[in-house]
Amino acid sequence: MSLLAVSNLAKHYHRDGKPFAAVDDVSFEIGPAETLALAGPSGSGKSTIARLVLRLIEPDAGRIGFEGGDFLTLSGATLRARRARLQMVFQDPLAAFNPRATVARVLDDPLRIHNIVPRAERPRRIAALLERVGLDTGLAARAIHEISGGQRQRVAIARAIATRPSLIVLDEAVSALDVSVRSQILELLLDLQRQERIAYLFISHDLGVIRAVAHRVIILDAGRIAESGDARAVIANPQSPVGKALVEAAPRLNRNRP
Ligand SMILES: Nc1ncnc2c1ncn2[C@@H]1O[C@H](COP(=O)(O)OP(=O)(O)O)[C@@H](O)[C@H]1O
Ligand SMILES: [Mg+2]
Repeated sequence: MSLLAVSNLAKHYHRDGKPFAAVDDVSFEIGPAETLALAGPSGSGKSTIARLVLRLIEPDAGRIGFEGGDFLTLSGATLRARRARLQMVFQDPLAAFNPRATVARVLDDPLRIHNIVPRAERPRRIAALLERVGLDTGLAARAIHEISGGQRQRVAIARAIATRPSLIVLDEAVSALDVSVRSQILELLLDLQRQERIAYLFISHDLGVIRAVAHRVIILDAGRIAESGDARAVIANPQSPVGKALVEAAPRLNRNRP
């Protein structure tokens, strides 16, 4: 059973007055508790696909099915309810949240907006969310700009899981973190997936990270799917020119190769 089914998705923009396809005839599916990675060079359409799947922008063509329904035609209360099941984590939580807001406020928003728990219970739920992502509950009173980048990304994950999503879209979510913090966050994501059966659409330009967390990978080239398959198999033996170039450009991968 597929959780997310994207078919023949297309999005055009203009460059130098001429239309071009940022996303061109892209189709894929993600099952429950599965991680599908999107890789590809800068400008290949990864973030545009993320924004389309989240319905932050509308496609020019194609269909998006989510949890068995047509996600593109939903509106009103049904769309809001379905949106709670589809969350996101971006590269820079400082840009995603008001930096002066407290951690508690950032986590309270989804609980309130989606009416997850009654007001009186929200502080306890916020503490539980902080504990779930490995943060001290004392952090609730701190402002977003006062905590470290790794802590902020844990808060972003806590916010994403607050509404009990079935799918989280992560767009370069660990790219700005240093190596040790990055591996801790990846461990947290894997643990959440095992415990809560959350699926990830995991966007990264880093094949080493993709190999560590993804079941399958799609490699994009100028908005089109160049190749796709089992993440380890594709990374070990890329077939497309762009896949080969990405593997070549990742020295860490070659060193770690068994
Ligand atoms: N809002 C926009 N207006 C015009 N062009 C855009 C817009 N968003 C993205 N693009 C272009 O679409 C292409 C794909 O961008 P993007 O999806 O951000 O790539 P990636 O995330 O893989 O780096 C790029 O050429 C980018 O410049
Ligand atoms: Mg991007």
